[in-house]
Amino acid sequence: MKEQLESIRRQALDAVAAAADPAQLEELRVRFLGKKGELTAVLKQMGKLSAEERPVMGQIANDIRAAIESAMETAKKELVAKALEQRLLDEALDVTVPGKEAKIGHRHPMYIALDEIKEIFIGMGFTVLDGPEVELAELNFDRLNAEEGHPSRDWSDTFYFDTDSRVMLRSQTSPMQVRAMDTMELPIRIIAPGRVYRKDEVDATHSPMFHQVEGMVIDKNVTMADLKGTLNTVVEQLYGKGTKTRFRPHHFPFTEPSCEMDVQCHKCGGVGCPTCKGEGWIELLGAGMIHPRVLEMSGIDPNEYSGWAFGIGLERTAMRRFKIADLRLIFENDVRFLEQF
Ligand code: DAH
Repeated sequence: MKEQLESIRRQALDAVAAAADPAQLEELRVRFLGKKGELTAVLKQMGKLSAEERPVMGQIANDIRAAIESAMETAKKELVAKALEQRLLDEALDVTVPGKEAKIGHRHPMYIALDEIKEIFIGMGFTVLDGPEVELAELNFDRLNAEEGHPSRDWSDTFYFDTDSRVMLRSQTSPMQVRAMDTMELPIRIIAPGRVYRKDEVDATHSPMFHQVEGMVIDKNVTMADLKGTLNTVVEQLYGKGTKTRFRPHHFPFTEPSCEMDVQCHKCGGVGCPTCKGEGWIELLGAGMIHPRVLEMSGIDPNEYSGWAFGIGLERTAMRRFKIADLRLIFENDVRFLEQF
């Protein structure tokens, strides 16, 4: 019996040493130490032994069991460690490889210009308003002193949503003047940037959709001098100190008197060049003193209050600010173009 036991010990220890993974070890445990295992089978024959031999064999069998168990324990630890090491090798990440840069686009030059304009006006105490692009014709025209049949409606009487021409894509941001007068307490100081729509064909300077910023002030004793002073300050902040402006008479139905404001050409300094088409000046915006009828239609007494307003084309402002030659570049949104600003 002793030889049998020693043979089991050798076989078991050799097999354990050769095991390739924890599953094999488990098979060996069942084979040698399990209830129907080889060691158990030998021990079942103990009854045939003499009373002196029994404890001796028992002791040997216990030693063998302990030796196999401890060998298995050690082998299992090694196998698990080895498997982990292999997995780490297989799934190795090279943390020194440069990452892929996440493209998040670029701020649009027109919105850079808009933010500059907002900043300037907010600094002067103006509120920034947002309003609908789908607008009532009444607010886009009638309440701005351009009722049905007014000649100024011809070129902008355009994208309607209904057959009786009541709802339209606004052709200007000026209806925001009416919305402000109808909803705000006096005095009012607002700007209102946003999209406007006209039936223009796309070319280097035109688009059927473009952006304007409307501005309006209503208070007691507001004069044309306030309009000029404010707009001159804005222009100097946008285009640099000492930038000259020029006010020319013009006509808008909702202002009286009306004017257009030009800035001296930044390219030639007023001498005349291709950028300003030989004029020396570049048209920037329309403005004027709010027509008394417009104030009256919004329930404001023109004998007590007066105001001024302006409308500036945002694409043009950005094109001038960043020396962009073609309006279409503004809308193409090619990141290679946008990244230059
Ligand atoms: N709404 C005019 C346009 O689209 C621009 C304009 C002119 C706005 C004079 C004004 C203004 O507020 O006073 O051409």
